[in-house]
Order: sequence, then structure tokens, then C-alpha cells
Amino acid sequence: MTKSLAERADEVLRTADGRAKTALSHAHAADWVAARKAGTPLPVGRATPPDRPARPARPELLPPRDVPRRRPGTAQGRVALLHTLAHIELNAVDLHWDIVARFTDVTMPMGFYDDWVKAADEESKHFNLLCDCLEAMGSHYGALPAHVGMWRAAEDTADDLMGRLAVVPMVLEARGLDVTPGMIEIFRKAGDAQATTALETIYAEEVGHVAYGAKWFNFLCGRANLDPKDSFHTLVRRYFHGALKPPFNEEKRAEAGLPPDFYWPLAEDYPPAFRPDAQPGTP
Ligand SMILES: [Fe+2]
Ligand SMILES: [Fe+2]
Repeated sequence: MTKSLAERADEVLRTADGRAKTALSHAHAADWVAARKAGTPLPVGRATPPDRPARPARPELLPPRDVPRRRPGTAQGRVALLHTLAHIELNAVDLHWDIVARFTDVTMPMGFYDDWVKAADEESKHFNLLCDCLEAMGSHYGALPAHVGMWRAAEDTADDLMGRLAVVPMVLEARGLDVTPGMIEIFRKAGDAQATTALETIYAEEVGHVAYGAKWFNFLCGRANLDPKDSFHTLVRRYFHGALKPPFNEEKRAEAGLPPDFYWPLAEDYPPAFRPDAQPGTP
């Protein structure tokens, strides 16, 4: 019998090894896309995804304060940076399959599943690109400790699809758009063409993931007759711990459908133009 999309998502979440997880992720994504193109879509189905995805024995997962600081001026520092990014990408694979499997009780258009399956497939590619870079530098994913806290946003929003969209693609992945250009510069300056190309691919594709978040968040707000900006502020304040950090990549955020009045009011440095008492037209 054909496995449903939710069962396939669950299978990816329960696969521990990074290369195996991402290979399965790619295979399931290819099946979904082929079935959609043939006009015979796979059933979305239902699953009971694990509270936390399976993880390999390595890397050792530590609280952020115990993960050694990285200095990107050295080759060792750049390995540590790529390792951190590989860990983020592996979590992103699971986050996208988790949104597919966990919220099947909310009826969504097929395009919702198309988008997250595509995003999960792209994160799988990103993880492998970064693993290839690490291996070219004589290291590998698992060689260094990594942050333990990556799944917290998923746990906090396990019962709230709008909260999940607000925090994961629209806050965390949007943050990636802010910081990636600086990282590309680090590898370009170091003459590492492989890592530069990998990060450029990641940067280009991440805009789409933020856009999927904004698209489906707006869709759910519209269906419930809610104001998207106010709902976004309420949900981020409820589920995200801490303020958003400027500087923001306003251009790429705009491309992804995130207007400044969504994120600036949640920032630690809240500019006068976005304060509620600001007068229109006041310099
Ligand atoms: Fe990614
Ligand atoms: Fe992403």
C-alpha cells in the first residue's frame, strides 16, 4: 500500500543518521512531486510524529554556553561555523517534515504540502553541501559539539500551527537571511570557493522558505478573519524567547513577504518610526 505523506514525514523524523535522513527526505520529496505531476497525489494521511526527531550519537549536544566559541579568522573557526550550519540544516529538515506530519488535523490546500516538501528537500541538499565542505576540510558532521536547544521552537509550538509558522520560518529562517551574507564574505575572503558556493545556494533558497511561512501565515489569518501583523506580534511574543536582533536584511525579508512593521516592533532596538506613538510624517 502507498505510504501517506504524513507517514513518510514520520519516517524521516525517526531516522537518526544525517546522510540517511536526508537521502530518505529527498526520496520522499521526489515521490510526492512525481505523484502530484501525474495527477495522482499521495494521500496526506496522518501520523504521530515523535516529540523529538531521532539524532545520531554524534555530535554531542550541549547547552549553547558550553559550545566553544568560534573565530572565523582561522581554518578551525571556519570548520566550526560550517559544523554549526550543518546542524541547523539538519534540524531544518526535521522542522519541515514535522510541520507536514503534526498538523494534519488542520485542513490545508495541497500547495501547503508542496511548499514544505520542497523546503525539506532543499534543507536536505543544504545539509549535504555543508557536510561535503566539512569533509573537504578534513572534518565531518559530528566531529564537534552542537547546540542542544534547536528543537525548542518546535516543542513550544507543537499545538499551534500559526505559532509554528510565526516562529520557525518567519523568525528563525528570516534571521538566516540577515546573517548569511556576512558568512558568505568570510568564506569568500578565505578563498574557499566550495563553501562560498554552498552558502550562496542556501541563501537563495532560504528566501523561499520564509516566503512559504508568510504565505501560509497570511492564509490562516485570512481564513480566521485575524489581522496578520497583530497576530504575528502576539504569537512571537508568546512562543519566541527574546527580542529580534537588528540589523535586518530588509530587502530579502521584503522579497519573502515580511514587511518592516512585522519585525521591527519585536526588535531590541525599536526605531522611532515604528513606535506606536510615532506621528506619520514626523522625521
Ligand atoms: Fe537551509
Ligand atoms: Fe530553510
